[in-house]
Amino acid sequence: MKDRVLSGMRPTGNLHLGNYLGALANWVRMQDAYECFYFSADWHVLTDHAEDRGDVPAQTIEMFADWLGAGLDPQRCTLFAQSLVPEHAELHLLFSMVTPVGWLERVPTYKERIEQQEIASPSYGLLGYPLLQSADILIYKARWVPVGIDQVPHVELTREVARRFNNTFGQVFPEPDAKLTEIPKVPGTDGRKMSKSYGNAIYLSDTAGDVVKKVKPMMTDPARKRRADPGNPDVCPVFDLHKIFTTDGDREACATGCRTAGIGCLDCKDVLLKHMLPALAPIRERRQAFVEKPDRIVDIIHDGSRRARVEAQRTMDEVRSKVRLAP
Ligand code: TRP
Ligand code: SF4
Repeated sequence: MKDRVLSGMRPTGNLHLGNYLGALANWVRMQDAYECFYFSADWHVLTDHAEDRGDVPAQTIEMFADWLGAGLDPQRCTLFAQSLVPEHAELHLLFSMVTPVGWLERVPTYKERIEQQEIASPSYGLLGYPLLQSADILIYKARWVPVGIDQVPHVELTREVARRFNNTFGQVFPEPDAKLTEIPKVPGTDGRKMSKSYGNAIYLSDTAGDVVKKVKPMMTDPARKRRADPGNPDVCPVFDLHKIFTTDGDREACATGCRTAGIGCLDCKDVLLKHMLPALAPIRERRQAFVEKPDRIVDIIHDGSRRARVEAQRTMDEVRSKVRLAP
């Protein structure tokens, strides 16, 4: 029996290279070694963007197109939408009965947003965000949760909630662990971390032409003002992308050319594009083929959600028999 893996993303828009290299590529790699469940955390979108949530169904279809383009295969993993498995909400409610408010108030993602006064009046749902996440994870009795470092406190909370539930009602839930993977540094075109909100992102949906247009003017080592000025690849965001995409030989040649002013930055970017474009093309082409058949994506989401729901219902039968309410 393979260990079970569960992870999710909020459907807030197209995925960029940072999302791909930081999470999605890893999900794809885990497909065969584990029994994987990946889902669209659509209820989680409402925890802080209830009014400006956008077109969530359309965003979900776009996100699944990114997933399928990246190589997630509905034959080899279960892809689903949270809101199509309403048992998550029932488990969240039961968890809310055994979770001290203080545990949730101390979760760093919540605390930071309150301290930075980003939110005038936090909703009950925002406070409960990580508890809903605990229900997402535990309802599948997942062993591993592949997430970024910022989500580790949520997995820690999940372990505490599992323990508290088991102590209160009887043993149901195993304790999951976060699975941290080495995430390469993915700079945006301006040298800052790649992020949708900075407007510096390269998207999986970008055409080859788009990528060229974004890479050519990309920020480099500011020491290389003129072609004859030597540079330092260690401080250059273009070189961070070389580390991800370029073969060792070509990359070393660029590093040397940079340090000796033997090549110009545009030459260096051409080498990068020579490696980057062929790596991205199959993802974009697969993605595009799915985007043209949104009905197929909707079917995949519904099929996967039915499969997930069977598992969720199995756990909830067990949970209800432990909690013992209706006669
Ligand atoms: N909070 C996660 C994020 O922002 C999304 C998420 C919701 C999640 N439920 C989850 C991730 C369960 C892993 C497991 O990225
Ligand atoms: Fe960056 Fe390449 Fe220019 Fe050096 S030559 S500064 S590594 S883009």
